[in-house]
Parts: sequence; structure tokens; C-alpha cells
Amino acid sequence: MSFQKLEFNEIPENEMLNRSVSLLNSLRMRRSVRDFSSRPVPAEIIHNCVKTAVSAPSGANKQPWRFVVVADPQIKKEIRNAAEAEEKEFYSHRATKEWLEDLNQFGTDWQKPFLETAPYLIVIFKEVIDTRGNESRKNYYVNESVGIATGFLLAAIHNAGLVSLTHTPSPMKFLQELLNRPENERAFLLIPVGYPAENAEVPEISKKTFKDVCMVC
Ligand SMILES: Cc1cc2nc3c(=O)[nH]c(=O)nc-3n(C[C@H](O)[C@H](O)[C@H](O)COP(=O)(O)O)c2cc1C
Repeated sequence: MSFQKLEFNEIPENEMLNRSVSLLNSLRMRRSVRDFSSRPVPAEIIHNCVKTAVSAPSGANKQPWRFVVVADPQIKKEIRNAAEAEEKEFYSHRATKEWLEDLNQFGTDWQKPFLETAPYLIVIFKEVIDTRGNESRKNYYVNESVGIATGFLLAAIHNAGLVSLTHTPSPMKFLQELLNRPENERAFLLIPVGYPAENAEVPEISKKTFKDVCMVC
């Protein structure tokens, strides 16, 4: 066990307030985008966003995540084909009536052209078991940890001036197979990233208010 001094830069209160408003106003503008431009994006920007994601906290610092950044057009095509096959099944058989009703407002269907158009697909895997040591060990709070890292990633992508979609073609086992991921990993989310298409549209939705979701006592 060893410790180091915390690096902490105290910020004056008025500056704290400004920063809190500034991030609020920025992240409020984030939207899930389903209509991407194929305009290239420098890989370094994407890598920096992933580096931001992996700075996230995790249960017992296990960091139970793996990120696969896909830029290869052939692999993107294979992912699209496999995702569309699953989504076709989902929309025509697997989804319940209620689920389809809830999705109606987004105008989505089985077709996922953005999986080829977006310059990058970031595929996030969760590691249920840690296989780094001599013996396999269980990871703790895997969903919570990978969810937090994903939040960091989405915020970093937005902050960099790009757009993303949190996508969950269901089931996602095909990603493990296509990307040759080991048995201890499970696909968690598929995130296309890039510029929005010109004149991209997003559904008009509303968010719950602060009062709806936060109790102050
Ligand atoms: C865990 C999760 C899974 C999602 N899966 C999909 C998906 O498979 N396809 C899709 O078009 N949108 C998906 N979304 C996007 C949501 O529909 C979107 O976040 C929500 O409608 C709110 O819109 P906003 O992100 O623009 O604020 C998903 C979002 C989350 C957080």
C-alpha cells in the first residue's frame, strides 16, 4: 500500500459556478444522432476521447472495459450486416408491442446505414472476469463501472465537437465474434462517432425536469 498527495486545484466559488453552468449548457446540447456524415475525423481525437473514458472510476479499480475503435470499411460493413440481421428479427418478432410503441417516436427501424457511414464505431466490451493475473478473478460492479466510463466517453465526444449514438443491437454476441474478442468479454454498447450529416434531424423529445428526478433534503 502506498499513497501520493492528491493533486487538487481549488477554484474560487464564482468560477465554480461558471464552470458548472458552462458544462450544463454544453452537455444539454448533446443529442443521439442517427444520421452521420462520412467526413473523416482525425484518429487522435477519438483516441483522446477513449483515454478520457478510461480515466473513469471503477469497482476496486478493476477497469473492466475494453474499447475497440473500428475505422476499417470492411469491418464496419460486416458489423452493419450482422446488426441489421439481428434488428430485422427484433423489429419483426422479438420486440414486444409496448417496446415498439415506445420506439415509435424515434422513427427507427432495422436499417442501420450509420454503421457504415460514421467514420468510427467504438465498440465497448465489459470484462466479467479479470484474466490478467495467474488466476482468473471476478470483476466487481462491472455494469456500473462500464456505464460510468461510457458516460465519460459520450461527454468527451460531445466536448470534442462530434456526435454519437448509443446503440444496442440486440443481441450483440456477433460483435464478440466479428472482432475476435476473448471469452471473458461481452459486448456492452456500440457507439458510432463522427460529424452529423448535413441537415441531420433528431426527434423532438422532452427530458424530465430537475424537480422530477432530484429530491433535495
Ligand atoms: C443504453 C442505451 C441504449 C440505446 N439503444 C439505442 C438503440 O439501439 N438505437 C437507437 O437508435 N438509440 C438508442 N439509444 C438512444 C436513446 O434512444 C436516446 O438516448 C434517447 O432517446 C434520448 O435522446 P438523446 O440521447 O438525444 O438525449 C440508446 C440509449 C441508451 C442510453
